[in-house]
Amino acid sequence: MKQISTVADMRLALSQIQGSVGLVPTMGYLHAGHLALVDRAKRENDVVVATIFVNPTQFGPNEDLARYPRDLHRDLTNLSAAGAEFVFTPSVSEIYPEGSCTYLVVEGLSDKLEGMSRPGHFRGVATVVAKLFNIIPADRAYFGQKDAQQVVVLKRMVRDMSFRHEIVVVPIVREADGLALSSRNVYLSPEERQSALVLSRTLFMARDLYEKGERNAREIRSSMRALLETEPMVKPAYVTVSDPETLEELEWVEGKALVALAARVGTTRLIDNILLGE
Ligand code: PAJ
Repeated sequence: MKQISTVADMRLALSQIQGSVGLVPTMGYLHAGHLALVDRAKRENDVVVATIFVNPTQFGPNEDLARYPRDLHRDLTNLSAAGAEFVFTPSVSEIYPEGSCTYLVVEGLSDKLEGMSRPGHFRGVATVVAKLFNIIPADRAYFGQKDAQQVVVLKRMVRDMSFRHEIVVVPIVREADGLALSSRNVYLSPEERQSALVLSRTLFMARDLYEKGERNAREIRSSMRALLETEPMVKPAYVTVSDPETLEELEWVEGKALVALAARVGTTRLIDNILLGE
């Protein structure tokens, strides 16, 4: 695996390869969820390019940019073992040269759910992913269903801006007890980690209700809130049963639905979701 840190070197390397390219953008501190994206990319492309860049523009002023976990050495070992051919590890100034003032905004979709608690977050995500897409004109780009709204926003961006990349969505990888893998799980104390299980339990409960015939989205949301409230360490931000493409809140679950939630567990903000009607 070759590590590359400048845009010029990345472009040069890509000009010298043949075959299809799969891109896996990450912020590093890789776990099995990220590596599932690399595995899938590996199966579907001739060459896999992973990127590691902790993108400052997607963090709010009171978020965890400074303490975001990093372990480049371990990440490189894991990516190499997973079979990535290239890893792009640019510096902040390589991606945002002095005086950068151009952003990409996916209007509407960016303001819902996560966007309500994290204003500017999806502007940062769309901007950095657009830049990565310009630097690495891959055939396919791999993202996790874990960040459901991110996928919705990026699919719309690709369509609206005519990027060549096909967005491939990979299912959520979970721990055996249900907790969705996340780089932020390292912040959780043992007690918090135990409490955090209520997030996936709540989603599975929603799926059970749906499977038993419940179609009233309001009922599903209120059962979800009630279950979340049983954990004193968990402070919910939102609970949603929404249209998976528009992210509009549903009244009735007729076709597909995205059941998603965000909550603070101690000081750590976690998100999780499941799809119904697939
Ligand atoms: P990061 O949080 O590092 O995640 C990188 C990719 O891994 C995302 O597509 C995310 O959805 C996926 N992922 C994370 N946990 C997962 C899990 N448990 N199962 C499956 N996939 C999982 O998402 C970002 O970085 C950034 O916003 C980025 C797209 C790189 C732009 O900066």
